[in-house]
Amino acid sequence: MPIARRYRLAAGLARLFPALGRWAAARRRFRVFSEIFQTNFWGSPTSVSGPGSELGQTAMIREAIPALLAAHGVGSILDAPCGDFNWMQHVPLTGIHYTGVDIVPALIARNRASYGSADRTFVLGDIVEGALPTADLIFCRDCLVHLSYDETRRALDNFRRSGATWLLTTTFTSTRANHDIVTGDWRPTMLQQAPYGFPEPVALINEGCTEFDGRYPDKSLGLWRLADLPTW
Ligand SMILES: C[S@@+](CC[C@H](N)C(=O)[O-])C[C@H]1O[C@@H](n2cnc3c(N)ncnc32)[C@H](O)[C@@H]1O
Repeated sequence: MPIARRYRLAAGLARLFPALGRWAAARRRFRVFSEIFQTNFWGSPTSVSGPGSELGQTAMIREAIPALLAAHGVGSILDAPCGDFNWMQHVPLTGIHYTGVDIVPALIARNRASYGSADRTFVLGDIVEGALPTADLIFCRDCLVHLSYDETRRALDNFRRSGATWLLTTTFTSTRANHDIVTGDWRPTMLQQAPYGFPEPVALINEGCTEFDGRYPDKSLGLWRLADLPTW
């Protein structure tokens, strides 16, 4: 049975009793993604963050991201979430302060030990709630695709509250209907369609995705000003 489904009871509680529900949902997020990490549930031989975080799937964005950051005067980024830093370690970020955040403690401990430096810090955190470090740009790749609508909405509010100017995040550009999921599952997110309703991105990078037998050639990173995003 998929990991996310085993935690459906907590998701149901969240709807019935809001305060208890928020606590249960936070606990559930932590448990789902910790278990995914511990079991290498996404099944990649080279990255516990999944096949999308392998070097082959990230060649185009590794090339494009430095130029995009320079073009928009970005001096600091919050990689939220950072996962295992498998591909990001190869992105030249000279002169840019980098902070990675993830909900899985063992992942953050490992990243700190392997990649931490004065300009690269890793902090434990939940993008859905709790204060986030301030940065010019929040980079949120391959995460909203795993979150329910409710938790996505709360994460976007949290990003706005952090004081960041920019959001660079995963979106899909083909026309398909969005649908809700239990956090921990996956589906493509077309951020310019309901319920997200994002405007035209300021910039768009196609990832050249070949995952799922080439079913998602429209997988992209979109850049938006957080102030331009609708609340929904
Ligand atoms: C598919 S991986 C992507 C990681 C990275 N962005 C990349 O491109 O390699 C998704 C990551 O999101 C983390 N995550 C999921 N929900 C989170 C949350 N609410 N707060 C912080 N991290 C979260 C998971 O632990 C996992 O490391």
